[in-house]
Amino acid sequence: MSYQGLLQTYKPYLPVNDNTPMLTLKEGNTPLIRAVNLSEELGLDLHFKYEGLNPTGSFKDRGMVMAVAKAVEEGSRTIMCASTGNTSAAAAAYAARAGLNCIVLIPNNNIALGKLAQAMIYGAKVIAIEGNFDRALEIVREITAKHPITLVNSVNPYRIEGQKTAAFEVVDQLGKAPDVLAIPVGNAGNISAYWKGFKEYHAAGKSSSLPKMVGFEAEGAMAIVKGEPILEPETIATAIRIGNPASWKTAVAAAEESGGQINYVTDDEILAAYRLIASREGVFAEPASAASVAGVLKLKREGYFKGGETVVCVLTGNGLKDPNVALKTVNAEPLVVPDTEEAVMEAIAKLEEA
Ligand code: F0G
Repeated sequence: MSYQGLLQTYKPYLPVNDNTPMLTLKEGNTPLIRAVNLSEELGLDLHFKYEGLNPTGSFKDRGMVMAVAKAVEEGSRTIMCASTGNTSAAAAAYAARAGLNCIVLIPNNNIALGKLAQAMIYGAKVIAIEGNFDRALEIVREITAKHPITLVNSVNPYRIEGQKTAAFEVVDQLGKAPDVLAIPVGNAGNISAYWKGFKEYHAAGKSSSLPKMVGFEAEGAMAIVKGEPILEPETIATAIRIGNPASWKTAVAAAEESGGQINYVTDDEILAAYRLIASREGVFAEPASAASVAGVLKLKREGYFKGGETVVCVLTGNGLKDPNVALKTVNAEPLVVPDTEEAVMEAIAKLEEA
């Protein structure tokens, strides 16, 4: 039978009952891609969990399908979230599918172009605040506490329930739990969800071990690493430009219980990893996603690995979300030439020299 979507596939592990609509855009079931070139170079068995192939291009679809299904079950008519872009795209899509109204609050001028386009085309009410994500989330929490509107940020526990299914897939795809799970950390919901998923699958007898959870914040937004909120978070990876992560405590617990860590990477390290995975492995993920790979490269330099470990980097979102950063990173434009064979051959020769 063809794939039925997350709620159907993982029903026994999810808060799904007879009244829960089996909402789906066929989210989940994303590929685990072995990084054949980088594995060789790093002496690791390195894999990418490529979440950019979800229906709206990020891992947020996993949590959103669950949260929106429960909102429908509970009779809600409107959902609302704050977002650095991906959550708003997912919320807007699933609201459209389920016939709900959707309101999203985004930080003005600080979300990637593709994400903005998504929220608008799916028909959400998009409001850009003159403030950052953390402030947007505060406002959304205040409004949803006072009005009959369902909050669908990851502080909604159904979001975490949906997102934990990615850990199930990793175990099913590898045939075991990885030694290390590397993941970007923004609002810290996803690392919390993966850890919950690994523990539940382990308890169900689906894996004999648990991974070390290593999470990476961007240097300019490293609240957890610093141990205090960052008032003005800044990073090229706008998806994780968050200064006061809502799931702070559970993220720290995931790192501690698993024997992992919360660490950080610089914007330069993020961009280098971003280019590397595209140019060496043919996988285009958005900048925030590359924080997981940048983090593994950092740990490798620091002598963290013995060699041969199975490492899974979560690539949380699709590179197409943020074309501006891609073009800025390569810092080049295509060569424009006359439409003749000679001109094209000349151009090829010129590019080979460069
Ligand atoms: N990677 C991407 C591409 C994201 O969009 C996010 C979060 C993260 C990583 C971090 O995940 O917050 O669970 O630690 N994006 C949220 C949003 C905040 O609004 O789309 P996290």
